[in-house]
Amino acid sequence: MPELVAYEIPAETELLHNYPNPFNPETWIPYRLAEDAFVTLTIYDQTGQVVRTIDVGHQIASVYESRSKAIYWDGRNGLGEQVASGVYFYHLTERKEKHNEPTPPKQTETVTLDGEEVAFTEGETLYEISERNRKDIPTLCYDPRLEAFGGCRLCVVELEGARTPVASCTTKATPGMVVRTATEDIEKYRKTLLEMVTSENREIDVDSLRGYASQELTTLVNRYEARTGRFMGAMSGTDQTDDKNPFIFRDYDLCISCYRCVRVCAEQEGDYAISVMNRGFHTQITTEFNGD
Ligand code: SF4
Ligand code: FES
Repeated sequence: MPELVAYEIPAETELLHNYPNPFNPETWIPYRLAEDAFVTLTIYDQTGQVVRTIDVGHQIASVYESRSKAIYWDGRNGLGEQVASGVYFYHLTERKEKHNEPTPPKQTETVTLDGEEVAFTEGETLYEISERNRKDIPTLCYDPRLEAFGGCRLCVVELEGARTPVASCTTKATPGMVVRTATEDIEKYRKTLLEMVTSENREIDVDSLRGYASQELTTLVNRYEARTGRFMGAMSGTDQTDDKNPFIFRDYDLCISCYRCVRVCAEQEGDYAISVMNRGFHTQITTEFNGD
């Protein structure tokens, strides 16, 4: 899956659009680093005057897009004063070495991943470490731009000492952990979970022209040879096919409750225009006033 591999270590360093935009009055500035570097963000006003310099410190090559990883600007200048709302520009500088300072220690703590000792940085999750080490862990609710949610449980891994498999996307690594990402039991568990998802959502044949994101569930069903319709019974989600909106077609019969729409809207846009109502089999993604 080339699209997923591309997230492991970005091919190039990139500064991305801030969110929410415009900032109100705080904002997050996401970026990707192709190589380990010392990162500094400089914010300018429209006249080119420096408003604030944020020294982020040493960062490893990775994706910094979710709120917990992107650079946070509280809308204040270097004196701590709130700046007027308006248009600001920002610039990212990445340097191999910080002047006058020794290179900080690299990742020193380790976990054992499928029998191999691998280093990690404090705060990394088991999923992030696995992804960096080219383990192909399936996910349905994970999105590198968002806070991990732990909803689909497809990313479970075996953790020595834990009574049940743990969701790798929400479990932070601690030194000495022994993790197995693809045992027979774990793969069986994932297949059963997929069969539960697809029993609710039997229309998994999606037009291939609709792009990779739309094929996500189908690709996993094929990979695990999961049986659709194995678990018969009540279903959640009510379609919205009589929606009069000419641009957006909402068919909640196909919803798998990953909540990515809700989380993107809240975390990236700061809008909270999409939300969830009810619980259990009555769970339903909805919009304000459930309007068209
Ligand atoms: S409607 Fe939202 S919660 Fe449902 S599958 Fe799509 S993104 Fe996920
Ligand atoms: S990807 Fe980890 S719980 Fe969904």
